[in-house]
Amino acid sequence: MSFNNLDTLYRQVIMDHYKNPRNRGTLADESVTIDMNNPTCGDRIELHLQVEDGTVKDAKFEGEGCSISMSSASMMTQAVKGKNIEDALEMSSIFSKMMLGEDVEDVDFDLGDIEALQGVSKFPARIKCATLAWKAMEKAVSADEEE
Ligand code: FES
Repeated sequence: MSFNNLDTLYRQVIMDHYKNPRNRGTLADESVTIDMNNPTCGDRIELHLQVEDGTVKDAKFEGEGCSISMSSASMMTQAVKGKNIEDALEMSSIFSKMMLGEDVEDVDFDLGDIEALQGVSKFPARIKCATLAWKAMEKAVSADEEE
C-alpha cells in the first residue's frame, strides 16, 4: 500500500473511532475513576476502569476533546479490555514509544487500530492529545493497586 493510501486509511480509522467511539460511558461504583485533562488545551477525559484479579475487566470513558484524543481513548479502552495489568502497561509503553517515532513493528502485541495514530508522532503539539487516555489508564491502574 502506498504511503498516501495508508495515510487515508489511518485517517478513516481515526475518524471512525471519533464518530463512533467504542466504550463511551460510565461504569458502576466498584470501578476506579480518573479525571485527567490536557493542560495545553483543557480538554478532558474521565476514565472508568474495572480491575479484578489483576485483569482489566472493563473500561469506559467520557469527556470532550479533539478527534485525536477521543479516538485514542476509544482505541485504548478497546486495547486494554481483558488484558492483565502488566500487559496493559506494556501496551502503554509501546504507545509512548510510537509517539516518539520509534519503530514498534516487532512488538508482541497486535496493535490493531492503535497503529492508525502513529502519524501523530510527526506533530509534537498533538502528542499530548494522543497520550491523554493512556496516561489516565496508567493512573487508574496504580490507583487500583493502592486500594
Ligand atoms: Fe485538546 Fe487534543 S486539542 S486534547
